[in-house]
Amino acid sequence: MGNQPIRIGKMEITNRIVMPPIATYRSTADGKVTEDLLSYYGERAKNSHIGMIITEHSYIALRGKAKEHQLSISDDRDIPGLSRLTEVIHQGGTKAMAQLNHAGSAAPSSATGGRPVSASGIVLPTVPMMGDGVVPEQLTREQIAAVAARFADAAERAKRAGYDGAEIHSAHAYLLNQFYSPLTNHRTDEYGGTLDNRLRIHREVIRAVRERVGADYPLAIRLGGCDYMEGGSTIADAVYAAKVFEQEGIDLIDVSGGMCRYTRAGHDEPGYFQDLSAAIRNAVSVPVMLTGGIRTLRQAEQLLDAGAADLIGVGRELLKNPYWPDGAKE
Ligand SMILES: Cc1cc2nc3c(=O)[nH]c(=O)nc-3n(C[C@H](O)[C@H](O)[C@H](O)COP(=O)(O)O)c2cc1C
Repeated sequence: MGNQPIRIGKMEITNRIVMPPIATYRSTADGKVTEDLLSYYGERAKNSHIGMIITEHSYIALRGKAKEHQLSISDDRDIPGLSRLTEVIHQGGTKAMAQLNHAGSAAPSSATGGRPVSASGIVLPTVPMMGDGVVPEQLTREQIAAVAARFADAAERAKRAGYDGAEIHSAHAYLLNQFYSPLTNHRTDEYGGTLDNRLRIHREVIRAVRERVGADYPLAIRLGGCDYMEGGSTIADAVYAAKVFEQEGIDLIDVSGGMCRYTRAGHDEPGYFQDLSAAIRNAVSVPVMLTGGIRTLRQAEQLLDAGAADLIGVGRELLKNPYWPDGAKE
């Protein structure tokens, strides 16, 4: 089943294995593509025979930069470098999606030069702490509208640079995840409180992006569906959110963790977020991707056969070994 093609919106990919975003921080100080980054992705596109690579999280605005040497998609001057990156991935025979991110309160002042922003003035509950750990500034309505516009600008750049699609990052305790999680969103206006309100910024971002890139451009969202923490977001929240995203025109739900980030305490079995992905998959008709702990093609096949997801992400194995799965043990 892993070798069956699948459609993500209007795009067909040749098989069900995807390299999820893995930040390498190999860009220049101002986020431009380097030769090192090109050869890293080129090697993986050419040798792994996977269906798609989602390139590492790229900041949509300086205020949302997560780390020094992170890849930028915040400026039109980034487009020539990003075009070379998509070319290299396409030459390897693999589709490419860009991951668009605003780090919110996880952005350190060493990267952004300013105070971090978030849904509320609440320090992240992540362990270890992300960013500087200082109390962030609560975004105003006007600033929220500007964030949606920055996502749209970045998505347009992804399209112009030849990416086959774009993924909106709403996982791993970054800005959109900070709005979604009740642990970090204590707002009392229309962007906080009920789950519908906590998803308002997502709807506005998706609409702004969709309007900019057109109806046919494949759009994914990485959903940090569940915090797996007391008082945090739940699987039921994630199922509801996924249905909202589908209604708003998202073509792929890429499932991962929330405030727990991309790992899950006490779990390292293959597909450790499968309770989340399977519940979402039962509720939506767009494809669902599951990542986390999958090391071999056989494990990927088993999860696909069990109906846990439609696509499987393999991160750290491909980070270590561009020849995966041929070079893998099974
Ligand atoms: C070094 C490193 C960098 C990562 N960077 C990103 C990223 O930029 N965006 C993202 O959504 N996830 C990122 N992740 C999470 C991975 O996409 C993936 O979900 C995680 O590694 C679990 O999958 P695996 O067990 O196959 O590695 C990163 C993970 C690692 C280890």
